[in-house]
Amino acid sequence: MSKLLSRYLSLADFEVSARKLLPKPLYAYVQGGVEDNLTLYANRRVFDDYFLKPNVLVDVSSRDISVELFGHRYSAPVGIAPMGIAALTGYRGDLSLAQAAAAANVPFVMSGSSLIRLEEVIEAAPNSWFQAYLPGDIAQIAPLIERVRKAGVKTLVITVDTPVKANRENNVRAGFSTPLRPSVALAYQGLTHPRWLFATFLRTLVQHGMPYFENNYATRGAPVLSASVVRDFTDRGHLNWEHLRQIRRQWRGAMVVKGIMQTADAARCQQIGIDGIVVSNHGGRQLDGSVPPLYVLPDIVEASGAMVVMADSGIRRGTDVIKAIAFGARATFIGRPFNYASAVAGQAGVAHAIDLIVAEVNRDIGMLGVTGLAEINRDLLVRRQGLAHWDERDISQRV
Ligand code: GLV
Repeated sequence: MSKLLSRYLSLADFEVSARKLLPKPLYAYVQGGVEDNLTLYANRRVFDDYFLKPNVLVDVSSRDISVELFGHRYSAPVGIAPMGIAALTGYRGDLSLAQAAAAANVPFVMSGSSLIRLEEVIEAAPNSWFQAYLPGDIAQIAPLIERVRKAGVKTLVITVDTPVKANRENNVRAGFSTPLRPSVALAYQGLTHPRWLFATFLRTLVQHGMPYFENNYATRGAPVLSASVVRDFTDRGHLNWEHLRQIRRQWRGAMVVKGIMQTADAARCQQIGIDGIVVSNHGGRQLDGSVPPLYVLPDIVEASGAMVVMADSGIRRGTDVIKAIAFGARATFIGRPFNYASAVAGQAGVAHAIDLIVAEVNRDIGMLGVTGLAEINRDLLVRRQGLAHWDERDISQRV
C-alpha cells in the first residue's frame, strides 16, 4: 500500500478527500439524498440503535467470513453497490471498481447508468454483476436483457425502486444534471478542480472520447455533457410484475431484484423464481422517508424462503455489516465510499477501501467471540434504550 493510502484508515476518510477533489455538482450527485434527506441520515443512525453483546474466551484464532452467493464463494459478505457515472468521478471508474472487487473476491454490481460499455467491464472482470433499470419503453426491455446475456453477465440485478424520477433538489441546487449542461459555472468548477479536470475528465476525453450513457438500453444513450441532448427518462410508472415475470422467463442466470421493502413483494419475487433480493432504499436517493432496511429485514427474510436476501443503504463499518447479518442479510453492499475511493486513487484506492472494510468485519467478529457468519444472530444485539445521542443533541440544541 502506498504511503498516501496508508493515511486512509476508514471508509469515511475517502469522502473528505473526494469532497475537495471533485467539482461541486459531481460531489453533490454522489453524496446527496433526496428532499430533506430523512432517509439518507436514518440509514446511518439506525445502526446506532443496536449494541453488540460479545462472547468471551471463545477460540477465535481462526475465522471465516466467506459467503456463497449464486454458486460463487466470495471472501467477505460485503460488496460494491451499483453507482451511476462512476467513470466521471474517477478515471475509468467502473473498471477500477470491478477490477479491485475481482482481485479481492468480493461482489461488484455495475450500474446501468454507467459510462463504459458493460462488455468491456465484463471482459476485465467476468464475475461482475450487472444492474439494469427497466427501460420505460417496453419494447426496449428484451433487447437490453439479450445484450447483457451476450456480454457474459452471470448475475442480473433489476432495480425496482425508480417507477418515477426522484426529487433530487440537491442536484438542481448544485448544478448537476444528466447530461451536464456546459455553462460558465460548470467551467469554473472544472478549472478550480484541476486534478479532477486533468487526471479524470480531460484524460478520459483524450483517450476515450466523450463519455456516453452506454448501458441503459441495448444501444448507446445520451452523452454525459451536452448543451441540447435530452436524456431518455421515459416514464417507468406503467412497469409491473408481469414485466419482471417476462424477464425471469428470458434470463437463465441468477436474477436479483433490488429495492424490495415489503414482505408481500419479497414473497412475490420468490413465487416468480427470483434468486435473490436486495433490501434497499437506494441509499436514501429515491423516496424520502422510506424505511432503513434494518427495520424490515427480519420479516422480509421470513417471507423469502430460500431466496438470498441482501441489504444495502447506510452500511459504512464492519459492525454495520455484522448488524445487518444479525438481522438476516446474507450479504451487504456499500456504495458511496467506494466511489470516493476510486475518485481519490483509482483501483488502488478501491482496493484499499475493500481491505479496510473486510478487515473490520474480520476483526469485529473476533471481538464478538464469533468464528463464522452462521454464528451471527440477534442474540448478539441489544436494542438501545432511551434516547439516542442525536436525540440528546437535538434536545440540548433546543433548550
Ligand atoms: C442512480 O441510481 C442514482 O441513484 O443516482
